[in-house]
Amino acid sequence: MTMREKIEEAAARYPDQRSAIMPALLIAQEEHGHLPGPVLEEVADILGVERIWVYELATFYTLFHTEPVGMFHLQLCDNVSCMLCGSEDLLDHLETVLGIRKGDTTPDGLFTLSTVECLGACEMAPVMQVGDDYHAHLDVARINALLDSLRATVGAASVEHASARLPGE
Ligand code: FES
Repeated sequence: MTMREKIEEAAARYPDQRSAIMPALLIAQEEHGHLPGPVLEEVADILGVERIWVYELATFYTLFHTEPVGMFHLQLCDNVSCMLCGSEDLLDHLETVLGIRKGDTTPDGLFTLSTVECLGACEMAPVMQVGDDYHAHLDVARINALLDSLRATVGAASVEHASARLPGE
């Protein structure tokens, strides 16, 4: 099914196409990895809505990315509860161990580091979202373990990929 077909199918559930912009953007981002200008225009055209409405939503919500992001997008909450529980120190630590600043992507394309507003999980502060997963009650040790496990995921995928190409198949 093409992106257009997926968006049209999702949009059919909404009486007002403006309400379908969020699900349409999620579909477009799944398809393209991020949401550059031409993709936003395509979404607006498919839904038949003003391009500025699509642009406003895509740039307001941190779950949408108008710029390319790494394989793992580390979104550390820096709102009040998380800040009081040490998110500033965790950000410093992440910048140090990854060798990048907030907003940047590591040269190997693995990690993009961002700060975001409240993730709605204040009782588990400090919290960081990676993809669809929340990582809670973070400290330096848990951050390090998380980075290791994410890197191991990539390593395992590489091994599987290489195995699939072994001679004799
Ligand atoms: Fe961080 Fe609410 S302030 S989850």
